Amino acid sequence: MTTCYVTTPIYYVNDRPHIGHCYTTLVADVYARFQRLAGGADVFMLTGTDEHADKVVTSAAAHGTTPQEWADRNSEEFRRAFALMGVAYDDFIRTTEPRHKVKVAEYISALMKTGDIYRGEYTGWYDEGQEEYLTETAAKEANFHSPINKKPLVRRTEPCYFFRLSKYQERLLGLIASDAGFVRPDSRRQEVLGRLRQGLNDVPVSRPVTDDPATQWGVRIPGDEAHRVYVWIDALFNYLSVVDTPQRQRLWPARVHFLGKDILWFHAVIWPALLLALGKGLPGTIYGHGWWISEGEKMSKSMGNFIDLERLRAYTERFGLDALRWYLATQGPLGGGDADFSHAKFVETFNADLANGIGNATSRVGNMIDKYFGGVLPADDGVALVPDAASGFDGTSVRGTFEWKGLCAAAAGRVRACLETQDLEGALRAGTGLASKVDLLINVTRPFTIAKRADAEAKRQLGAILYQCAEALRVASVLLSPALTTGMPKLWKTWGCEPAAGATLEALSAFGGEHALMPGQRITKGEILYMRADAAAAFPAAGV
Ligand code: ME8
Ligand code: MG
Repeated sequence: MTTCYVTTPIYYVNDRPHIGHCYTTLVADVYARFQRLAGGADVFMLTGTDEHADKVVTSAAAHGTTPQEWADRNSEEFRRAFALMGVAYDDFIRTTEPRHKVKVAEYISALMKTGDIYRGEYTGWYDEGQEEYLTETAAKEANFHSPINKKPLVRRTEPCYFFRLSKYQERLLGLIASDAGFVRPDSRRQEVLGRLRQGLNDVPVSRPVTDDPATQWGVRIPGDEAHRVYVWIDALFNYLSVVDTPQRQRLWPARVHFLGKDILWFHAVIWPALLLALGKGLPGTIYGHGWWISEGEKMSKSMGNFIDLERLRAYTERFGLDALRWYLATQGPLGGGDADFSHAKFVETFNADLANGIGNATSRVGNMIDKYFGGVLPADDGVALVPDAASGFDGTSVRGTFEWKGLCAAAAGRVRACLETQDLEGALRAGTGLASKVDLLINVTRPFTIAKRADAEAKRQLGAILYQCAEALRVASVLLSPALTTGMPKLWKTWGCEPAAGATLEALSAFGGEHALMPGQRITKGEILYMRADAAAAFPAAGV
């Protein structure tokens, strides 16, 4: 069986989880759920926390606690955040865990043996917020201030172990230039290629250990207690360490690493070079998404537009978890540019896609089956369907226009194609597309008008239309379920159509196929899945 190993960055524990961390992890979750639905692959999703940063020691001290306790406490916050988001990860790695630290030491030793890691001396401009050195040019361009947090860069000289990154420049260039899917989206790939062409210097992979407790936090360089592994190298190894066991080694190489554009260089260049040096397989795709901004501005606590966990929780409480997952998954910055989290847009998207979309369609159809057929699903006996004169239908035949077998198969095909490029919005639009088509069938045939007629022909037409609507919505619900993890299972319960475990995407999406709704089965009316929201309601209030 093929494998599909999906990862998120591991997050720094000194920060509180916010929309950015929740977003990348949600993207990985929706993608992994889609892959599980697609079937045929052994899917594994990893997330976790990056704990050996210097700033963990500093902030632990500021809070009167030890780095380990501080990391324990904050790592738990990330677990809570991902539980709130309904994320189903398969493992959660913490870099302070022995299973990881042991492997890091092993990898470093192996690279010292091959000469890919060697001892030297380093002087450079250090960004303490990002825990990284900037190149001379980058430091100058940024006027010797962190491009991220704007604080002054610090000049540092230290004896140091280096990774022979320069040795891999040509191979990386060849790889990234020839494989269009290795770095995504393409705008990011071009950026990486441009920077790679300027040349690569060897990079430091260690930090000195001194009397300062801040320097004692981290994994030691094997055989040299005076140095510890640079937090970024330690962190990157997590993707491998978690699956580098006899039971899990089948999962390597990873299918996709999801991350934000801020850390693309580490993932697109340094990480593959480390893997090449170790003789390990390379990941399929490194996906560097864009940035969430908030109400048109960069998120900041002082601006009052910061979207923290409390704000996200308020959204789930007011609109439901599906609303939040849907908004992030379809309106997020996966495509390349940044995305604006705007309350008005949130409500608009929720109403259009969920309340007026799949939610309204399923409740309309459920209500009509209840009202006209006593909650028992009618059959489609092939009777001719006639467009309502007032509907303005311009097709030649209703059945030809609503050719559900083909439409549903095409929707499943679209999902599969979108997964190839991690286009989650595209994949989810396959499901909303079917729901809109059901609305259209109702508007064209007007079953509520047909229901007023007493003849047998009317009853047959009504049955055919409602069967088609219900069955197409069943398929839509399956295709939407990776994002809508609360509402779709509720619908399956009331309609009695829980997707069979182990069935493939194509089988589940086959209209009238082996997993289809059966005429005669009960369709319970059920509660309203997504209550339409007042667009004017300014909730939650801006600012926290
Ligand atoms: O960089 N919009 O961790 P980190 C979208 N520990 N995504 C955002 C975001 C925003 N405004 N803000 C943050 C680290 N993110 C390292 C990673 S991996 C081996 C080590 C997301 O806690 C995005 O995924 O600073 C970004 O790359 C990540 O959080 C950075 O998290
Ligand atoms: Mg960061």
